[in-house]
Amino acid sequence: MPSNYGSITTQMTLVEKASLLSGEDFWHSRKIDRLNIPAMALADGPHGLRKQASEGDHLGLVKGVAATCFPTSATMANSWDVEMCEAVGKALGKEAVYNEVNIILGPGLNIKRSPLCGRNFEYYSEDPYQAGKLAAAYTRGIQSEGVGACLKHFAANNQEYLRMTNDSIVDDRTLHEIYLTGFEIAVKEGKPKAVMSSYNKVNGTYSHEHKYLLRDLLVDTWRFEGMVVSDWGGSNDAVESVKAGAHLEMPSTGYDSVHQIVDAVKSGNLDETVLDERVEEYLKVLYETEINRKIELDFEAHHKLAQKAAEASIILLKNEDVLPLKPDCKVAIVGDFADTPRYQGAGSSMVNPYKLDSTLEVMKQANLDIIGYASGYDRVGKCAHDKCEEAVNLAKKADVAVVYIGLNEIDEVEGQDRQHLKISSCQIELLEAVAKVTKVVAVISGGSVIEMPWETQCDAIVHGYLTGQAGANAILNVLTGAVNPSGKLSESYPLKYEDVPNINYYPGNERTSEYREGLYVGYRYYDKVGQDVRYPFGYGLSYTSFEYSDLVVMQDGVRFSLKNIGPVAGAEIAQLYIGKDQNLIHHPSKELKGFKKIFLMPGETAIVEMPFDDYSFRYYDVNENSFQIENGLYQLLVGSSSREIKLKGEIKIDGKTPEKEDQQKLSDYYKGTVSAVSFDTFQALYGDVVPKATWDRTEPLGLNDSLAQMVYAKSFLARTAIKILIGLRNKSVKKGNPDLNLFFLSNMPFRAIAKMSNGAVSIAMTKNILDIVNGHFFKGLGGLVRSFISYRKRGLN
Ligand code: BGC
Repeated sequence: MPSNYGSITTQMTLVEKASLLSGEDFWHSRKIDRLNIPAMALADGPHGLRKQASEGDHLGLVKGVAATCFPTSATMANSWDVEMCEAVGKALGKEAVYNEVNIILGPGLNIKRSPLCGRNFEYYSEDPYQAGKLAAAYTRGIQSEGVGACLKHFAANNQEYLRMTNDSIVDDRTLHEIYLTGFEIAVKEGKPKAVMSSYNKVNGTYSHEHKYLLRDLLVDTWRFEGMVVSDWGGSNDAVESVKAGAHLEMPSTGYDSVHQIVDAVKSGNLDETVLDERVEEYLKVLYETEINRKIELDFEAHHKLAQKAAEASIILLKNEDVLPLKPDCKVAIVGDFADTPRYQGAGSSMVNPYKLDSTLEVMKQANLDIIGYASGYDRVGKCAHDKCEEAVNLAKKADVAVVYIGLNEIDEVEGQDRQHLKISSCQIELLEAVAKVTKVVAVISGGSVIEMPWETQCDAIVHGYLTGQAGANAILNVLTGAVNPSGKLSESYPLKYEDVPNINYYPGNERTSEYREGLYVGYRYYDKVGQDVRYPFGYGLSYTSFEYSDLVVMQDGVRFSLKNIGPVAGAEIAQLYIGKDQNLIHHPSKELKGFKKIFLMPGETAIVEMPFDDYSFRYYDVNENSFQIENGLYQLLVGSSSREIKLKGEIKIDGKTPEKEDQQKLSDYYKGTVSAVSFDTFQALYGDVVPKATWDRTEPLGLNDSLAQMVYAKSFLARTAIKILIGLRNKSVKKGNPDLNLFFLSNMPFRAIAKMSNGAVSIAMTKNILDIVNGHFFKGLGGLVRSFISYRKRGLN
């Protein structure tokens, strides 16, 4: 590894330097043979390696090499198990070394702002503290093998609809406290080699050229020492990105971006020392993640780890004396998910599993009296009443029916937000019918929140989320009691979608997404307004029970006793929440500030300590533009979920007296009634002019307008083309097999034609295409020919 990267840049030509800052192909950066500078290989993440051997795509369309499919992040988050996350990260790191991948594109730690976000299955939590701690653990694990992790998607990337053009409009305090804190923790405690900027804009500026995010915060405040890579096709202006602190633009834009950087240096628009700085920072990561060893991979050991990880994450939501199943009870297996499991989501994170356990197979080996299987429903299309009847007839002969239900493939897809929180009505019909004839244990698959009004039909509910390739055995072990469930929810389950705080602002459509609910996301909202939920944040049952006692409040943390008072060994996830009465500024009633998973034998007691840390008492002061600690009395709440507080204490903290807010103007935020915040109130919180939310339909379309916007184009041809594309896209959804390519295309901005075409089309050519779209056919066509010729002529200079 070179000790001085400056000595390398001095040997490079301007073109060579610029060439290192964009991809050679879909998964590699450029190499420079003359100077022995190798290429860097990147591959998705986050819950398994998706290295594509042949053709590349960022939508998971072409299968990757065989790899271990671990539980997805949403699942792992339910384990709240920092060591387990680190162990899985380490295994991922090994698979990366084995496959010669320098950077794994994960973990993803965006906040689950709305349960509708199509990628929630890839993210950890609705809480930044939890997300940050788990992402840091993954990062440490991955990097312990000498390769790099890449935190994504930085920042405020919380919806899939129009994800490449949308502008997240979020007030400074909410941005820092909710959407950036997780990244801060993961950067400081995980020291990732890379961060991926998000597709969206944040308050008017694309993330990949957001100097405040990429430099002022990431580098100057959090001391990040890695590189910033764009999301695939997410770079807007190559020169502005370099100025703002970004390093690698992916995938390849041919030499278009290289030319733009070279021209900017020549014209004086980009200082060459800034370019050198970026190149040296990039080289540091390149050499630090260089793989100089060959390893063998123990896929079986990773499979076992995937099972353990799933076992640590499965949540028992309900149990009325049915579970664990007794060895002699007659069990009917019902539900198509038992035959065709859902164990991961669709899109760029889709792993080609090295092997996949099947529920029906593992059940055969179980110490249970399995009397048969019936699929009960079809995944898509109309309800198959004959299948339901067959299942009911089988269930009649059983003591218990284990009914496998969940979200269908189409419900959780990168690039598309969900429309509702329901599972298919055919599955509910089945549950209700089976519940009439025997006891029901529902086993749920699905990576995000669902409405569960049918919960009353079930005697027990086991939520597996998306368990990865070894989930079948993990679920079986929980059903039989070989494993005592210990997972807890990392997101609140509302009674119905209408209860969600941002129901009126999510997803933002057209230009912006206004985060009008402010700080009040998930339990921060439900707890503040006292809204009933189906299951609260942090909730999960066990086959044993725990007693909390003897809270001691110390200057630097809390201490309490935790005893396993039930019949079997098990693990409890104890949570520390901290709250403060509102005086000068508004607050959630309490926020998660610590957690610990503790395993105890029956009768065993542990003394649990939870230290305070930098995040315990801080709030973001918009007048100081920094985090501060507010003076006053804080409530310390130790509990087994956000709604089951077992121990209470208080502490007085010395800090500053914040400037008093205008409580009248911000009264919605004081009360927490944030589901119908007016534009004026939001503007008062935002502290600036809130930009226009809608497209201007009279303006010509520009590089950053999305293809979907062609419905307003002057050109008849363009209008017809987009209508056909959207028609085909909707047809694929109806068929139950959404075409991710069509989703991507309709959501993407024009500039992505250049950014995603591997150099076939330049930005200049894209501008000419826009002329055609805007009704200037001949001007556009002529320009296109000229741009094409000059682009080709220039070649690699
Ligand atoms: C996704 C990223 C992913 C990248 C490469 C993008 O569409 O947003 O999460 O890492 O593609 O596949």
